[in-house]
Amino acid sequence: MKYDFDRVIHRTGTDSVKWDHHQMKGEVDEMIPMSIADMDFEAPDFVVEAIIGRARHGIFGYTVVPEGYYSSLSKWLLMRSGWEVRKEWIRPTPGVIPALAFAVEAFTEPGDGIIIQPPVYHPFRAVIADNGRAVVNNPLKCEGNAYSMDIEGLKRAVDSRTKMIIISTPHNPVGRVWRQEELEELAEVCLENGIIIISDEIHADLVMPGCTHTPTAMLSDEVSRITVTCTSPSKTFNLAELHVANAIIPDKGLYERFDLALTRAGLKRPNVLGMAALEAAYANGDGWVSELITYLNGNYLYMRDFFLEKLPEVRVSAMEGTYLGWLDFRGLGLPEAAVDERLLLKARVDMTPGRIFGPGGEGFYRMNLACPRAVLERALTRIRGAFRE
Ligand SMILES: Cc1ncc(COP(=O)(O)O)c(C=O)c1O
Repeated sequence: MKYDFDRVIHRTGTDSVKWDHHQMKGEVDEMIPMSIADMDFEAPDFVVEAIIGRARHGIFGYTVVPEGYYSSLSKWLLMRSGWEVRKEWIRPTPGVIPALAFAVEAFTEPGDGIIIQPPVYHPFRAVIADNGRAVVNNPLKCEGNAYSMDIEGLKRAVDSRTKMIIISTPHNPVGRVWRQEELEELAEVCLENGIIIISDEIHADLVMPGCTHTPTAMLSDEVSRITVTCTSPSKTFNLAELHVANAIIPDKGLYERFDLALTRAGLKRPNVLGMAALEAAYANGDGWVSELITYLNGNYLYMRDFFLEKLPEVRVSAMEGTYLGWLDFRGLGLPEAAVDERLLLKARVDMTPGRIFGPGGEGFYRMNLACPRAVLERALTRIRGAFRE
């Protein structure tokens, strides 16, 4: 390994949401936070150098989006998924959540129905409800902790007011990397019913060995014309607060409507340091990402085996993608409030409670595994201690 993911970097005192503002701040000392989805690893050196290099110039005046921004993104998507993306399909946005919110505004009317498949990344619900649209739940099917999409349920959920579906692919929090056939079944229902697909592919680079990510827009020309793909280097390279992301929209009509929604809000270009970071990350990031995936997969396997051996009542779903473990604590037979209390006060490990991801998340916890192995080991030992006196 060229990169050192074992190095523990202290984040307290940096205004980190995870470390400085966790839910028990001020009440519990030495909490290990494994909640919000950023990584406790440094961004790659070539990204940090690009930011420093740009910053050293000292002038941050109005700057166009450079050609290298578009070409490094296109090359990255071609290399990683075989997807050929044209420059005129790319619309920079200040983040994926903003892109979702603008898509809701651009393509639907108040009162329209938008489908999500819980348990799913909770801001999906918020961007729909906060914009006065109706949240239509089509929960994932869960059999023995293995998840699939409920295509029959999807057909039943659709009515004349349903205009859009937002999918997480790979799926946060359950860790599925959707197979091509599964996406095809979903896309068929959308094509038949005039439903626009917002495909949130922010986790697309974080796919574990043995799985392959299929960009939704690559399924067919027809599907690409109803799909808006949201992507960003923020999860892959740990750049969330640089606020740089992209929507990729092959259909000209959809592109123009989306672009207009952003332009109306005065949003033209990403910030200059974010652009420098994106270009450097996508131009040089391949080797770093392979090592990162090896490390994350190692963390996942370590965590899975730990529970199997030491606390088998907790069942772990397969993590095919993302760096988020999905843990079912229901087998302990304790009320959720008691599990919360033991995790937060006894183990002092702050995971994200599954219930916030909507129906089907109750009794589960999402564990952020993007941390040095030593931190993970400490957290797991503490969790075991909290349930095995
Ligand atoms: C599925 C998904 N979409 C979007 C985001 C956040 O995107 P951004 O920070 O670019 O708004 C996250 C972060 O965890 C996520 O998991």
